Amino acid sequence: MSRKRVAILISGRGSNMAALIEAAKEKNFPAEIVLVLSNRPDAGGLDIARAAGIATVVVDHKTYGKDRVSFDGAMQSVLEQNRIELICLAGFMRLLTTPFVERWDGRMINIHPALLPAFKGLDTHQRARDAGVKVHGATVHFVVPEMDGGAIIMQGAVAVRADDSAQTLAARVLTVEHQIYPQALKLVAEGRVKIVDGRSLIDGKPVPDTASLIPSA
Ligand code: GRF
Repeated sequence: MSRKRVAILISGRGSNMAALIEAAKEKNFPAEIVLVLSNRPDAGGLDIARAAGIATVVVDHKTYGKDRVSFDGAMQSVLEQNRIELICLAGFMRLLTTPFVERWDGRMINIHPALLPAFKGLDTHQRARDAGVKVHGATVHFVVPEMDGGAIIMQGAVAVRADDSAQTLAARVLTVEHQIYPQALKLVAEGRVKIVDGRSLIDGKPVPDTASLIPSA
């Protein structure tokens, strides 16, 4: 089995990155994390990646000012140098240009801390609290030019408790993120997920109920 060469793009603490690295240690895992790329030199996840023996690169967006095209071009060069086949965005906090996203169409996935299409964008946990929703969660999806808009691969849900703060809710959602992201990467790396009419099919069928996760905790 040839394992897919994966880059994880981060901006911060990298707990989802760490979950992917951990999962990929399993010998039959279909993907190998070969590169962690950060747009911030101080991202905490860089230390975790280095400690795991994974190559790290910083492409500092500040160097490029408002020039997103050059920034994305610099990242593209690094990805090509490392012969990357799949990208996982994991708390990567930069908007990507449409040409970059289109170049990686079907080969770039993201984790978003909400049950998409609800709560796209930032501050999802506070907004879920404010909206009074009873179920919240996380989504792994393909990346398309529209932010948080691509085909859904996997979701995990948590119950929202009356006494939840945005922080306590975020912590429970994060636990779910760490479970669904490796599972979704596995499916994509195995080539089992295809996008048809904007929706993901797994092995040619709609995403099965059992692929989603509703933990009791
Ligand atoms: C996660 O909640 C992820 O869903 C969102 O940003 C956060 C990143 O956390 N996109 P971490 O860096 O993976 O710990």
